[in-house]
Amino acid sequence: MSTPQTRAEVAVVGLGRVGLPLALCFADRGLTVIGVDNDAARLDAVREERMPFAETGAQALLERAARSGRLALSERVADAAGARHIVLTLGTPSFSHIEIDMRDIRSALDDLLSVLAPGHSLILRSTVAPGTTDFVAGYLAKHRDFQIGEDVYVAHAPERIAAGRFLEEIDTLPCIIGGVGARSGEVVAGLFSAFAAPIVQTSPVQAELAKIWANILRYTNFALPNLLMMDCERHGANVFEVIDLVNRDYPRGGIAQPGLTAGTCLRKDFAFSEERSAAPGMLLAVSRVNESVPLFLVEGVKRRLGGLAGRKVAVLGLAFKADTDDERDSLAHKLIRLLERELTDVAVHDPHVATPTVPLEEALEGAAAVVVATNHAEFREASTLAAIAERAGGDCLVVDPWNCWGAAQVFAYSSEIAALVASG
Ligand SMILES: NC(=O)c1ccc[n+]([C@@H]2O[C@H](COP(=O)([O-])OP(=O)(O)OC[C@H]3O[C@@H](n4cnc5c(N)ncnc54)[C@H](O)[C@@H]3O)[C@@H](O)[C@H]2O)c1
Repeated sequence: MSTPQTRAEVAVVGLGRVGLPLALCFADRGLTVIGVDNDAARLDAVREERMPFAETGAQALLERAARSGRLALSERVADAAGARHIVLTLGTPSFSHIEIDMRDIRSALDDLLSVLAPGHSLILRSTVAPGTTDFVAGYLAKHRDFQIGEDVYVAHAPERIAAGRFLEEIDTLPCIIGGVGARSGEVVAGLFSAFAAPIVQTSPVQAELAKIWANILRYTNFALPNLLMMDCERHGANVFEVIDLVNRDYPRGGIAQPGLTAGTCLRKDFAFSEERSAAPGMLLAVSRVNESVPLFLVEGVKRRLGGLAGRKVAVLGLAFKADTDDERDSLAHKLIRLLERELTDVAVHDPHVATPTVPLEEALEGAAAVVVATNHAEFREASTLAAIAERAGGDCLVVDPWNCWGAAQVFAYSSEIAALVASG
């Protein structure tokens, strides 16, 4: 095995929510790291030792990495070839054509083509459609005549960590590695042995399928209670009571709770399977269920309050899930757009996100309805319910698909919720 002339052990290309914590964790384990991103503002933040987004424990790691001198930064993808292992953590959205959008991956590959040398390994950490790792290997073989798995190594090592739990899960979640050819898996396992997590070797396509189907499972799991919530409204039934009846002391699985289900991974990863599905449409239907929850909530408010034009609705939460500052692909934004199309005066409060929102009291003041779009811990406090009663009044309609206060009502007036909570 030859080793390229390199000045760092690992390069991480794309210092986003996956790449930056990963780069910091490698540096923390003593590896020399080159972090690459083409967003100058992102690089400035890292240089100034400022985490550009919230990730538990990452700020301290960033400061340690800066002190250690083990993290170098660059905006040029080609500089990643200064490291033996090159990990791609670039975004992989989906086109509206139900197809992976791998333009960032293609662009990085083209930047790397001329600088790759025998001994390099290229690792796809991004979530990709089945077959992408073999495509990447084929692309390198086609354009550079490399023997993949013998002189250059290519593998998929999917990121499966949940935002906010990176530092904990990097050492515990089994690290799946699907290497191409004879030695890619073994070489890439050497890199990830920097962490304590067990390593599971498989084929590239199995690694790809395992990652996207973990997300498909969650996305589908949440679509079921969401569909049930909508069906219960039609039948005049209470979704929380039905879920309790299904789950109570029943030994064969259970239904999750309803909510607004989206986010950058769940919303798009199903499309990577749907691209060439044996049962086309099944996962699209799952997506349509989750995507229709905001409209269901808006229609529910309209049915109870009459027209919404000129009335004030407070939306609590912009993030796609609880206790994160990540708003990407959040259904809260869709909910707000739908409310605005009813000519509603929308006031938004979220204590976590970067987008400016108004203080809680200001959002609630005089609201005809309050929609809990994100179940942040702050909103689950009794004080939020008290603030709704005080600022918006007992006849304010509260929409709470998350059952934040245990009142078990998707739509109820704030005085009803207070009475239900008080009666336990
Ligand atoms: N966010 C998560 O919780 C999560 C979890 C598991 C898997 N994933 C997957 O990991 C991948 C990355 O996700 P993310 O949330 O970190 O994305 P992100 O958008 O936060 O990060 C991507 C980064 O790459 C940079 N970039 C884009 N094109 C570039 C280029 N040509 N050269 C250099 N830098 C470039 C961007 O500036 C950005 O900082 C995706 O495939 C995603 O599906 C994400």
